[in-house]
Amino acid sequence: MKAIVYDGIQKVDCREVKDPKIEKDDDIIVKVTSTAICGSDLHLVHGLVKGMYDGYVLGHETMGIVEEVGKDVKNIKKGDRVIIPFPVACGHCFFCEHQEYSQCDNTNKYGEAGGLLGYSKSYGDYAGGQAEYIRVPHANVGPKVIPEELKDEQVLFLTDILPTSLWGTEIANVKKGDTVVVLGCGPVGLLTIKWCMLKEASRVIAVDRVGYRLQHAKSYGAEILNFEEYDETGAYIKEMTHGGADCVIDCVGVDGKMSVMEKVETALKLQGGSKSAIEIASQAVRKCRSHCTCRSIWNKIQQLSTRQHVHQKHHPKNGTMPSHKICRTNIRNDKKRRN
Ligand SMILES: NC(=O)c1ccc[n+]([C@@H]2O[C@H](COP(=O)([O-])OP(=O)(O)OC[C@H]3O[C@@H](n4cnc5c(N)ncnc54)[C@H](O)[C@@H]3O)[C@@H](O)[C@H]2O)c1
Ligand SMILES: [Zn+2]
Ligand SMILES: [Zn+2]
Repeated sequence: MKAIVYDGIQKVDCREVKDPKIEKDDDIIVKVTSTAICGSDLHLVHGLVKGMYDGYVLGHETMGIVEEVGKDVKNIKKGDRVIIPFPVACGHCFFCEHQEYSQCDNTNKYGEAGGLLGYSKSYGDYAGGQAEYIRVPHANVGPKVIPEELKDEQVLFLTDILPTSLWGTEIANVKKGDTVVVLGCGPVGLLTIKWCMLKEASRVIAVDRVGYRLQHAKSYGAEILNFEEYDETGAYIKEMTHGGADCVIDCVGVDGKMSVMEKVETALKLQGGSKSAIEIASQAVRKCRSHCTCRSIWNKIQQLSTRQHVHQKHHPKNGTMPSHKICRTNIRNDKKRRN
């Protein structure tokens, strides 16, 4: 089959690779009908995640038609159309039982975090879904069958960015009447803004430097701010919000804008990417309130001031989104709405 593979830092290739096959009795093989590129794929391609090797198949936002099922797969059959949440979860360890599926203890023999599809050897070495076919392990836990009447583009984003953005607003504890700062207006940031509006935040301030992304944010009702126009964006936000925002949600990650020094340090592996958004967040958030990061990886970060976190009781929160539970709720709600 053909697949998109990592081919060294800053390089990807479309190449012939081996077809996946059933390896365990609860695996399924899915013929991919739609797949997407996530901001997190940039971290892999830019060399910010350990455990990448030439020929590794990328992609973790994927759906398709079930082609083959292992003999222990219960609720999925050949021909079903499924979405595939990106964490690989066993369904019965401590973390799965607490619905923290992305932290599954049994799916990544190479590290502490749970396994992720298409996210390098350090997250379990599972081939990704930017391919004609994908093997999905633990198919009784992850994939969800999609009603026929929903088109791929109506459900594909449930595999990652839609639940990720909702989860960001949940761990940041966005409530009615809050002032929320959303850093980064890529797909995750823009969806986060939409969730904030649904949760009736009274003021949403969207920050980026890319004009068309800021314009999208504006069309959703956010105030917009180009961080390149300010020396101290965080301090400016604190001023314009009279003491800081109730919640700051970082939808930027390690691929954010980097200073020259950060670029050098990152190349020398002394630092793992950008800390620009964390710096803005820690200045922009009101005392005793939370800032959270949707970033999927936290690498080594030099010279990060933790003064605000300690003295002003900020509560930073972060992690990899446990998409199984959020996907399920969204499909259920969508079905209810349509009925
Ligand atoms: N935790 C999870 O489970 C999870 C899941 C999906 C995505 N993510 C992460 O969410 C982040 C956003 O994903 P995306 O697909 O929207 O990425 P993206 O790269 O498309 O968007 C990031 C945006 O941030 C902007 N930006 C750069 N530096 C900034 C700064 N200092 N302040 C404000 N904006 C800045 C960029 O211009 C860009 O528009 C990524 O880091 C991704 O890895 C995490
Ligand atoms: Zn992703
Ligand atoms: Zn588990």
